[in-house]
Amino acid sequence: MSTLQSQTALGLLGRDFLGLMDYSPEEIRYLIDLAIELKSKNKAGEVYQPLKGKTLGMIFEKSSTRTRVSFEVGMYQLGGHAMFLSRNDLQIGRGETIHDTAQTLSRYLDGIMIRTFAHKTVIDLARYATVPVINGLTDFAHPCQALADYMTVLEHKGKLEGLKIAYIGDGNNMVHSLMIGAAKLGMHMAVASPEGYMPDQEIQASSREYAAASGGSLLVTTDPKEAIADADVIYTDVWASMGFEEEQKVREKAFANYQVNEELTAYAKKDYVFLHCLPAHRGEEVSAGVIDGPNSIIFDEAENRLHAQKAIMAALMS
Ligand code: CP
Ligand code: NVA
Repeated sequence: MSTLQSQTALGLLGRDFLGLMDYSPEEIRYLIDLAIELKSKNKAGEVYQPLKGKTLGMIFEKSSTRTRVSFEVGMYQLGGHAMFLSRNDLQIGRGETIHDTAQTLSRYLDGIMIRTFAHKTVIDLARYATVPVINGLTDFAHPCQALADYMTVLEHKGKLEGLKIAYIGDGNNMVHSLMIGAAKLGMHMAVASPEGYMPDQEIQASSREYAAASGGSLLVTTDPKEAIADADVIYTDVWASMGFEEEQKVREKAFANYQVNEELTAYAKKDYVFLHCLPAHRGEEVSAGVIDGPNSIIFDEAENRLHAQKAIMAALMS
């Protein structure tokens, strides 16, 4: 049975993809394996179109380079069509409810991808939509990115279980999804954030629970050196996420000792890989030497957004 054929057995058809929390370790691993299979088909020039005749609506309330382009290209490669819907073009921008929007869009579309601010908007959209809803980033989570990230680590390291991933920086949407993923996949995760910018307490508690079951672990500290010690994977993200731009100056002060640079990476394993979801700010959360250096795999990571999201769409919508 090919990876794709086993999707029905796993019951992924028709599901939403709102966060890694809702997916079992087996389902997450299945999606990663499917992404790798679809990537190799793509590299071999094999045409594979299980979504012929299907349309994905893509609602964007925030900017995007990677998410928009990779979903649109991915849908095209799978034989379907993707439609870009900005907040300004939709009636939600003028106050139409999420309920009515979800119900209406479900009559036309086969799936909805949404990037928005409040996580509740995505939960509500999924509650009222009758087609799969995919979370393309909220203030709380970025699960498509985390899936592509773990796929990338697997490709470079040959395994996930037992590896140590260190995240240095803001306790934001990105680290939340990475924490849940690491804990479910049996990885050891260490997070270093300044006081006041720690990851969500409930995410910490859930991660510890998942890690106890998978053989992984979670450390949350304010000390970047402690977090990065002997790490196989180093990850960082911007200090001020979308929607927090006005806090930029305050955050620059709070995060001044949290830059991932050559001095800090010296504490990691020699063969560490560096990841960043992008967009990046060289000279802030990461030095140019690290992000553009030999251990950085950021563009493999960016490419894998395409393959990982094709796996999600093929599994949920075909
Ligand atoms: N990493 C990521 O989601 O990038 P975009 O904001 O460009 O979509
Ligand atoms: N944490 C960042 C991720 C961007 C992909 C943000 O939300 O802006």
